[in-house]
Amino acid sequence: MNDILINNTVTFFKETFGAEPQKIVLSPGRINIIGEHIDYNDGYVLPAAIDKIICFAFEKSKAKTSRVIAIDLNDEFEINLNDPIELSDNVWTNYVRGVILQLQNKGFKFEGFNCVFSSTIPVGSGLSSSAALECGFLFGVKELYNLDIKPVDVALMGQSAEHWVGINCGIMDQFSSVMGLENKVIKIDCRTLEYEYHNADFNEYSLILFDSNVKHSLMTSAYNQRREQCEEGIAILKSNFPEVKSFRDCTEEQVQSVKDKMSEDVFKRSLFVVKEIKRVIQACQALDNGDIQTLGKLMYETHEGLSKDYEVSCPELDMIVDTLKTEEAVVGSRLMGGGFGGCTINLIKKGHEERIKAKLSGLYLDAFGIELKIYDVKIGNGTSLYINN
Ligand code: GLA
Repeated sequence: MNDILINNTVTFFKETFGAEPQKIVLSPGRINIIGEHIDYNDGYVLPAAIDKIICFAFEKSKAKTSRVIAIDLNDEFEINLNDPIELSDNVWTNYVRGVILQLQNKGFKFEGFNCVFSSTIPVGSGLSSSAALECGFLFGVKELYNLDIKPVDVALMGQSAEHWVGINCGIMDQFSSVMGLENKVIKIDCRTLEYEYHNADFNEYSLILFDSNVKHSLMTSAYNQRREQCEEGIAILKSNFPEVKSFRDCTEEQVQSVKDKMSEDVFKRSLFVVKEIKRVIQACQALDNGDIQTLGKLMYETHEGLSKDYEVSCPELDMIVDTLKTEEAVVGSRLMGGGFGGCTINLIKKGHEERIKAKLSGLYLDAFGIELKIYDVKIGNGTSLYINN
């Protein structure tokens, strides 16, 4: 599938600019096995890059303005690198503008470029198409102008670009897009950015994503609000327990003991975070031991917490998980990513996939009048150079 994507991108580039691209960059979306909303709370997460990617084709340009073309959107914009970089109403361009601003702020020297890109990452599905755009675009400019930027800094600058656009996100999406490895999940310590790869071996279970095909509009403000509530929660915990530096050092009992000092929302968010940090460690051990039953059970618990305590689910996602819970062949299911729509990540016993896909699609259509989308994803490599001319 990605061969077609790459061919189309290169053909479009040649037809537009009349030459072969100098660099071709591939940058993936991500899944997350477990560890949701804890990257910005000093937790551990367990994501992986996937085989849904953005393909970019680049060349250097001497023109006054640089051109960036989004083939799939049939849209493009021009930017003069000497002008101040500002947010635009055309949202996708902001991720590119944000990256250019980060490079300029850090003092990197580069000149103009032409870039076209096309993607197989569905937008708004919680698969981090924006992180793939930021990291892939930044990587391309770095390669074009030989900028000395380490992979982890590509991820960090991508994250800063996302902050500039308006979501105060953690590091998980950009880190996994850059650092992904085929057939491996990455356990990231979001406090230190230390990371280790673990085999993504789910034994007799298949990893399948069900996309609710909805995107509730309050995502950005609700996300930023959750982060603020967690900051409030940890401040209260720190002032009561001097040994506590972050949620990672907290026990559930400590959170319970300051319940009357917190608003109900802040209490529920804090409790979720402390539990979720523990679940990731257990889930990673279960994966290493090939104990997919335990991993799945933890995924169901995460969904429950995200829905009831963190309150980032929605009726569509809850319906998918509740329906799958009644199927013996589904060992685990939960909403994935920021929430308020997008995908669930599910582990389904091999041999039962097609039956469950068909059944859930029918029930989902009946319940909401919306078509369920389904992705069989493979775990792939991080942002990389495909061709270097
Ligand atoms: C979004 C953010 C990530 C992370 C997830 C929730 O994808 O970009 O940093 O917080 O939500 O786990």
